[in-house]
Amino acid sequence: MHNQLAMNDPVPVITLDGPGGSGKGTVCLLLAEKLRWHILDSGSLYRLTALESMQKNVSDEAQLIEIANNMDIDYRPDGARLKVLLSGQDVTDAIRAEPVGSKASEIAAIAGVRQALLERQRAFAVSPGLLADGRDMGTVVFPHAALKIFLTARPEERAKRRYKQLKEKGIDANLPELVAELEARDKRDSERSAAPLKAADDAVLLDTTEMSIDEVVNQVLRMANQCFGTSVV
Ligand code: DC
Repeated sequence: MHNQLAMNDPVPVITLDGPGGSGKGTVCLLLAEKLRWHILDSGSLYRLTALESMQKNVSDEAQLIEIANNMDIDYRPDGARLKVLLSGQDVTDAIRAEPVGSKASEIAAIAGVRQALLERQRAFAVSPGLLADGRDMGTVVFPHAALKIFLTARPEERAKRRYKQLKEKGIDANLPELVAELEARDKRDSERSAAPLKAADDAVLLDTTEMSIDEVVNQVLRMANQCFGTSVV
């Protein structure tokens, strides 16, 4: 984890992997604000591929790969968040809907889709640093990252967090359905052969079930300061 050469890395990268609802997204946003680093929300790329395939009614593998390669996407700062554009349309909320998440998890099992998104993801690593949020950030996309974190939390707690997030965005949600969907998604994400959800051997594991977001952020910041020589509080 604490690579001695980390301070000399051209672009410092912190990977945050873990299942849905483990807190990665929120933690990444808060850390990015504190460190003034960039964010890669890799799940959004799978969600964008899913949304475009749903809009075009495409499910053939070759066509899905073509979408992943060629979709026109853009991220724009919008207050503390990022606005997500697909072919110029604001799809920030549309990609968060549960059917899009399920479809994203389905197509994320296709090796060709993952390959198509690989370079797009690596291109996010620009100065002064990157917080990479996903499932395979530490294992596949940024295997040389100097600091790798793997966040977990109990499924019921993760479903509750997702429920709250969706409700806050005015998106309709049902808690028992969310628990079932999360468990199905975890199973699919962990059991697929292409880059399954798993902690890198050199990742720090953090169970966030009983932790507040601030506690998680502070713990990761302490590790980042130690690893990259930053002194952010
Ligand atoms: O993090 P999320 O819920 O937005 O991700 C949506 C789906 O995309 C998730 O079920 C699995 C897939 N995904 C992936 O396979 N690899 C990533 N690095 C990020 C997401």
